[in-house]
Amino acid sequence: MSTDVNDKGAILIVDDNPANLEMLLEFLSNAGFTVLVAEDGESAITGAEYAPPDMILLDILMPVMDGFETCQRLKANPLTQDIPIIFMTALTETVDKLKGLSLGAVDYVTKPLQHEEVLARIELHLKLRKLTKTLQEQNQRLEREICERKQAEQKIREQAALLDITTDAILVRDFDSKINFWSQGAEHLYGWQATEVIGKNVNQLLYRPDLLSQLENVEKSLTEHGCWQGELEQVTKQKKKIIVASRWTLMRDQHGQPKSILTVNTDITEKKQLESQFLRTQRLESLGTLAGGIAHDLNNILTPILSAAQLLQLKHSKSDEWSQQIFRTIETSAKRGSAVVKQVLQFARGVDGKREIVLLKNLFLEIQQIVHGTFPKSIEFSLNIQSDLWAIIGDCTHLHQVLMNLIVNARDAMPDGGTLSICAKNLSIDEQYARMNLEANVGSYIVITVADTGIGMPPEILDRIFEPFFTTKDVGKGTGLGLSTVRGIIKSHGGFINVHSIIGKGTEFKLFLPAVKTMATSPTENLDLPYGNEELILVVDDEAKILETTQTLLKSYNYKVVTASNGIEAIALYASYQDKISVVLVDMMMPLMDGAVTIRTLQKMNPLVKIVAVSGIVGSNKITKDATQGKFISKPYTTQELLQTLHELLGQETCTK
Ligand SMILES: Nc1ncnc2c1ncn2[C@@H]1O[C@H](COP(=O)(O)OP(=O)(O)OP(=O)(O)O)[C@@H](O)[C@H]1O
Ligand SMILES: [Mg+2]
Repeated sequence: MSTDVNDKGAILIVDDNPANLEMLLEFLSNAGFTVLVAEDGESAITGAEYAPPDMILLDILMPVMDGFETCQRLKANPLTQDIPIIFMTALTETVDKLKGLSLGAVDYVTKPLQHEEVLARIELHLKLRKLTKTLQEQNQRLEREICERKQAEQKIREQAALLDITTDAILVRDFDSKINFWSQGAEHLYGWQATEVIGKNVNQLLYRPDLLSQLENVEKSLTEHGCWQGELEQVTKQKKKIIVASRWTLMRDQHGQPKSILTVNTDITEKKQLESQFLRTQRLESLGTLAGGIAHDLNNILTPILSAAQLLQLKHSKSDEWSQQIFRTIETSAKRGSAVVKQVLQFARGVDGKREIVLLKNLFLEIQQIVHGTFPKSIEFSLNIQSDLWAIIGDCTHLHQVLMNLIVNARDAMPDGGTLSICAKNLSIDEQYARMNLEANVGSYIVITVADTGIGMPPEILDRIFEPFFTTKDVGKGTGLGLSTVRGIIKSHGGFINVHSIIGKGTEFKLFLPAVKTMATSPTENLDLPYGNEELILVVDDEAKILETTQTLLKSYNYKVVTASNGIEAIALYASYQDKISVVLVDMMMPLMDGAVTIRTLQKMNPLVKIVAVSGIVGSNKITKDATQGKFISKPYTTQELLQTLHELLGQETCTK
């Protein structure tokens, strides 16, 4: 078989009759075709597989394998199924012609063959085949293109979705600052919808006039380098100030000409706030460590000075008034020094203090009394406490100190008068809030707001007010320890402080203290205070006022009371009523005969005497520790403390009325 490729194509003739074959071979070769021949079905199939012709002329009536079967097998074979087949038949029955066509043949010619007809049909089908092939190729190319376009569209859709998913704000502007594109992220960040801003001037939308100067550098860098990266201050639709990390890129058209500017902005406002909070806290911590170290050393220096001054006074008690005065000055100065040291240590190391349920309402009422009694009349005071205020656990005396520091600062900030207000309410801190404040935790808090309408503070002062020894007051007027102590105490209560101040308008301190969700009511209503059983208490104090209030208090809790205003009187009374007196309540600091001596004398009279020693000075409890029956409470004490102490000392069953 020849496989020469002729212009007109290769044709395989299959016929068992050699005469037919020869005739067709000659005729078709003359017509310009390359002609291949096969005398039976089997060799036709092998030949077509080996070198597929452009067309097969197939005789139907052949021995062994007829034309139909040959056609069937050629059509079933992937290598040959595309080759058009024309049957040659002597049969005239339509049934056979139809069978041939149904098996996949494209046409038939009837024997005896009319050469012109055969040629015409062959050429027609070859042309058809060529056209079909071209069409198929075009189809395939189109399909490929459609597929590629679909993929590209899918990619664009995915990228667009990505633009919308990202929380970053993506915007495109032209060189007149008009907005062309505004992503969903931008809608969320700025509050402006795309429909509202397309075509608008982006600078007028996002910058306050005084913040526009930030953009000078940006524009310069864009012209020089085609990009810029940095932080910008912007405003939202709601006029909220935000800080963004911003990336700017110059976009060019296909000719490389600048076309527009693409900006991607990430909101870092929260991050910035946390960062500065963190830095401030860290600065205070390191100052605390430093101050704590110095305070500790100073304490060691002051202690011997104080005891030496006291010893000198004792030793030279008979010396002249001038020397006495000097000793007293040394003592008071050393005491003042150690008070300052104590305060610094409170800031640096935190304060231990007591942990009991604190009734803030009472605390506020005390503060109110102090304001009314001692502040200038030009300062108005208002107190506003939520009626079902939760309670807190802490140290009443320390919290008193906190409020005192704050109201004194407020007073000093209002030399020409104004309003000082305190309010307290419950607050549940959620995760959102806690995230914004390093010191806050999720949970229940009480917020105490102390606000004044005074001079206010600029940010550079506000930033430093909690530092120990930071003061703007004249020498001698302020130590600068007030607020650092406040911070130390609030921190030791697990709380934190927020401050807000506007120059000329005033300042607001917010104290956040972890709350316990029980309602804090007055002690008589709530705390089940222990009553007495008409035991007789001897109260010894040199201050008439204290004697009076203690007496009233004890009587209202079912005790009987006798009072003595000094140690000698107390001993005289105890000598007369020893068997009736159940407890002696002794103030440690008294003139004539002080508490310690009084207690020792009483103990000599009755070693089992039950004593409660009261003092403002920490450490005096040593005295009563030696006593067989004794307790110590420090001034100022609460009603609960006093009653509880008596109750424990008397070993009573709880008896509440
Ligand atoms: N309510 C306020 N209004 C304006 N400024 C205030 C207010 N509270 C505090 N300050 C400023 O903070 C500074 C520090 O206050 P802080 O209470 O720690 O110390 P001080 O009041 O100066 O001295 P000290 O309290 O030790 O007598 C003050 O000097 C003042 O400048
Ligand atoms: Mg102060």
